[in-house]
Amino acid sequence: MSFDVDDIITQATTEDLARLVCGDGTWHTSGIERLGVPRVRMADGPHGLRVELGASLGESAPATCFPPAVGLASSWNPALLKRVGQALGREASAQGVDVVLGPGVNIKRSPLCGRNFEYFSEDPLLAGTLASALAYGLQAEGVGACVKHFAANNQETDRMRVDVQVSERALREIYLPAFEKVVLSAHPWMVMCSYNRLNGTLVSQDPWLLTDVLRGDWDYDGVVVSDWGAVFDRVEALVAGLDLEMPHVLGNSDVEVAEVVEAGQLSREVLELGAARVLALTERAVDAVRPGHAADPAAHHQLAREAAQESMVLLANDGVLPLAPRAKIALVGEFARTPRFQGGGSSRVNATRVDRLVDTLAARRRVRFAPGFLLSGKADDALVDEAVAAAEASDVVVACLGLPDSEETEGLDRTHLRLPEVQLALLAELAAVGKPIVVVLSNGSAVEVAPWLDQANALIEGWLAGQAGGLALADVLGGDVEPSGRLAETIAVRLGDHPSALMFPGEPGRVVYGEGVFVGYRGFDAADREVAFPFGFGLGYTTFSYDRLVVKVTGTPASRDLRVAVQVTVTNTGDRAGCEVVQVYVGNAPATVPRPPRELRGFSKVRLEPGESRVVSLPLDARAFSFWSEAQGRWVVESGLFTIEAGPNSRDLPLAQELKLDVPARRVPLHVESTIAEWMADTEAWEALMARLPEGARIELPEEVLAVVGGQPLRRFAKFPDMPITAADVDAVLASHG
Ligand code: GLC
Repeated sequence: MSFDVDDIITQATTEDLARLVCGDGTWHTSGIERLGVPRVRMADGPHGLRVELGASLGESAPATCFPPAVGLASSWNPALLKRVGQALGREASAQGVDVVLGPGVNIKRSPLCGRNFEYFSEDPLLAGTLASALAYGLQAEGVGACVKHFAANNQETDRMRVDVQVSERALREIYLPAFEKVVLSAHPWMVMCSYNRLNGTLVSQDPWLLTDVLRGDWDYDGVVVSDWGAVFDRVEALVAGLDLEMPHVLGNSDVEVAEVVEAGQLSREVLELGAARVLALTERAVDAVRPGHAADPAAHHQLAREAAQESMVLLANDGVLPLAPRAKIALVGEFARTPRFQGGGSSRVNATRVDRLVDTLAARRRVRFAPGFLLSGKADDALVDEAVAAAEASDVVVACLGLPDSEETEGLDRTHLRLPEVQLALLAELAAVGKPIVVVLSNGSAVEVAPWLDQANALIEGWLAGQAGGLALADVLGGDVEPSGRLAETIAVRLGDHPSALMFPGEPGRVVYGEGVFVGYRGFDAADREVAFPFGFGLGYTTFSYDRLVVKVTGTPASRDLRVAVQVTVTNTGDRAGCEVVQVYVGNAPATVPRPPRELRGFSKVRLEPGESRVVSLPLDARAFSFWSEAQGRWVVESGLFTIEAGPNSRDLPLAQELKLDVPARRVPLHVESTIAEWMADTEAWEALMARLPEGARIELPEEVLAVVGGQPLRRFAKFPDMPITAADVDAVLASHG
């Protein structure tokens, strides 16, 4: 049963339409009952359903808690993300939810952001590709996705007011592409605008972002919904392109909107546009074909287990892993008994069940558990002594460390990257015992590992692994499955090495993204700075070789049909099956703007049997070589010598091939501030200028002089006394050649 949107718009009163663009309660659109328009129901969250049973952020209905995005992203596996999206869709459908408020794709500009656990990566291609897969899976079940938080919401500090000052180039190349990819490839029913300001304008009232970019550049046809409480001026927001305010704020928004329309201060067309989009959303929800696969908690738990297995990143291993079958294990750390498997805030799921490593490992190995520390961070020597005793009586120690809930959650940012002091003290005591130690981390964003890495014989970054994380961890530690995750964010040696470090979270009221496009590995590589573990890194229980790289080019950038087919041959050189994430980066040619040394432009996760080789094909197009030109307001490929690089991670790219691109330079029109060098480069205009000089007065500037004066605006130079060229000459030629 659907309805005719235009017909409804015609029949609806101004009050009806005003109610449509303002929510009803906390989780619904308003609908128009007398015209047969039902409400649409929304619910969090990105990695598990949170259908509130009472007060906001209170108890919610049981649902499968999958690994949050920080974990899912580490799988580098779009097919897995699609399956998680489908499972989310089935659970949403079973609870009568029409739209799930996720995925969140904000870029991890700093590891300190308290909400990084809900986000995918420091790289927009990885984030966008994986989020698109999840959204696609969700919508395949007839339930809408709502990609969030659009845009540049990269910190929790002062998130509802802070003015993010960032160049358009950094927005286009870093902070927007993940949204762009989800919009263009998954067509989410909704886009949620963020709380913050962007270059001085509240995002909820920013026509450039919500209309020019989202609808003009990306042709988005869904609903733009506010983050909850992000609207300040409902009328301004409506004009900017914000179709739906959530939640319903007591009394005034819809009344206010109706009044300004009735008073003629706001055209009814603007209101109708927003209302029509909400009606179209309603029609989607009403017409949605829900395959009706019942939500199967046991099957979803198994999927959560697989997702956790694929999300874990083995960062170091001297051979102690997989654990020897008969080894006596000292399992140390409260996280083994009280697992931290998700983050705090609006994404928090009431998990259908939670596996604990203290149970799952003991079920298959000889384990002696010792909590080792208090989650409160309060020192407790007795706990340390107990843990040391357990280590002394065992063959190997598995130390479960990480960040407690209090240190990272929606609503606050961290101020440092260290593990809690009590855990570092415990690790040092355990190391003194002399038994091999496997450190397993539970954290939502990178922590500092360099100071204690030498105390670990193996290190697994488990991130936040969802409700089945305790089971997956036992699977991985015991070698039943291999950890096949790869880092989706750089682990720096120290916080201060991050390009954003001096400008996070900024100063009262504003944060300046001074690092521009140099975020994450883009910045570390540009600064040639060492890292603890690079973007894309991860080990497994087998080994791989990168044997061959073939690059085939067709078309050209100028003819807008450039296609670069990249083929990488990879072989499993170990003695057990395993997964490898083949990564392809483009090494950027020197350009007229500063560019990162390399950028991820393609990846593929493959599972190979021992000895098996596979040719992995990754297609690149012109965008893979482009940067956003603010001068030209578009994507630009410049001529130069690029490098196609392939390998296991951003700092290990054994295969490389140069690729020369010749792009006819687009004439940038001269203008009143054009420099001497720009004038001399424009032969036609320069000759026209020289023609205006007396015989023999032609200007010739040797290279060494041009290097010094070439950057000066010619017209200002022409106004100096006794110059052979006058401002009038410049203006005359500008008139004909500008
Ligand atoms: C929150 C979050 C957003 C969430 C919404 C509804 O403040 O920023 O991600 O979907 O409110 O709970």
